[in-house]
Amino acid sequence: MTLLIRNGQVVTASDTYQADLLCRDGLIAAIGREFDTTGVDEVIDASGKYVFPGFIDPHVHIHLPFMGTHAKDDYVSASRAALVGGTTTLIEMICPNRQEHPERAFEHWMSHAVGRSACDFSFHMGISRFDDSTAAALRRIVAAGVASFKVFLAYQGVFGIDDTELFRTLSLARELGVIVAAHCENETLVAERQRQLIVAGKTGPEWHEPSRPMAVEAAGVAHLMTFAELTGAAVYVVHTSCRPAVEAALAARRRGVRVSLETVIPYLVLDDSYARLPDFEGAKYVMSPPIRDRSQQEFLWNAVRNGEIDCVATDHAPFDFRGQKELGRDDFTRIPNGIPSLEHRVDLLYDHGVRRGRIDPCRFVELASTRAAKTFGLFPRKGTIAVGSDADLVVYDPDYQGQFSASTHQMATDYSAFEGWPQHGRSELVTVRGRVQVRDGRFVGTHDHGEFLRRVPTHHSANKPV
Ligand code: URP
Ligand code: ZN
Ligand code: ZN
Repeated sequence: MTLLIRNGQVVTASDTYQADLLCRDGLIAAIGREFDTTGVDEVIDASGKYVFPGFIDPHVHIHLPFMGTHAKDDYVSASRAALVGGTTTLIEMICPNRQEHPERAFEHWMSHAVGRSACDFSFHMGISRFDDSTAAALRRIVAAGVASFKVFLAYQGVFGIDDTELFRTLSLARELGVIVAAHCENETLVAERQRQLIVAGKTGPEWHEPSRPMAVEAAGVAHLMTFAELTGAAVYVVHTSCRPAVEAALAARRRGVRVSLETVIPYLVLDDSYARLPDFEGAKYVMSPPIRDRSQQEFLWNAVRNGEIDCVATDHAPFDFRGQKELGRDDFTRIPNGIPSLEHRVDLLYDHGVRRGRIDPCRFVELASTRAAKTFGLFPRKGTIAVGSDADLVVYDPDYQGQFSASTHQMATDYSAFEGWPQHGRSELVTVRGRVQVRDGRFVGTHDHGEFLRRVPTHHSANKPV
């Protein structure tokens, strides 16, 4: 299959220029002008459009047994939503419980994806227990192509690990050159504050943020930084929501800790007023760490612009309002945590970032694609437009105008956190390894096309741990 995308404005993390892209056998075969169209199966005119590399979401939950229920999407709905929203590769968190054997969990999560995913996918291997048999199992999982781990310094008794387990995980990661993604909050403080609030009758979703204030998140980050410093492991702090958390990581970065930072789209466009919506509507906006006040939003945009934050992901964790978020109607600590946003990350980042002049198109590509590819061992196969890279391409119409709504989105949830918001810009045509999976903004692909992306560790260090 040969595809020619003509007259588009190509954007990578470093450059933007007018060019034609010739794609053959799933790869970008040539970049230039005036290609001979003999033997080309399809010519796409991208005049007036951007051509971006396929976007990468490095923090997604699809199969997620959590808080007494299961996240709503499966790979059919999630990969469709990803593609319609311009995301051609997602990295899902494998979140086993403490009793689950890591290799069985890896097989289990893989079985949900294979044959159902329309986009390419990979995993972070979640570690919720580290005993005598864990290291050997993790070595085999890394050899099978999973080059990143995930730990939770939160969710006591569910996914959370203790400090001995954290130390051993990071030590093994350093030895293998694996990067460790971490959810950082001090779980004791969360549990105690939750208990105090509930006893005081403060049971609504608006109390979720006060139960996990910024200092709780910053304490979690500082804790991880100490362990990363002493083990020498490379770490990636997921979903940073506020200045104190980011600054705790930046202070560690200045002393040589190998730390990358993620924020997620809900923090950049929502604020804590949503959690105070009446009639329990605030539950739709409960995630952890919580959405902060507006001043934090501006801080995060600045950190996103100046390079302190590396990636903008989603932390897509989809639960219905009816029947799922409602589990916490009388007690906010029982509201399943998470916001569905996989489908809308790219459009929201484009609108609130590029269109409003906060970031330029190259930085946009870096934040939503290139940096994730580099951090997680997918570059240059993914994350850029270059000869030899996979032909994962997004023809993006910056002039499209629409509206976000649960009645039209592809995600399986019964609500949209962005209901009625205007949509400015759209992924009009999306290819995955040269195959058109989205056309005119609609999914036209197949669910056997997505491939598991084997990754190799890239975070080796010659330095000895302290
Ligand atoms: O609220 C969130 N973030 N839910 C998903 C699980 C996690 O913490 O990443
Ligand atoms: Zn998390
Ligand atoms: Zn998450």
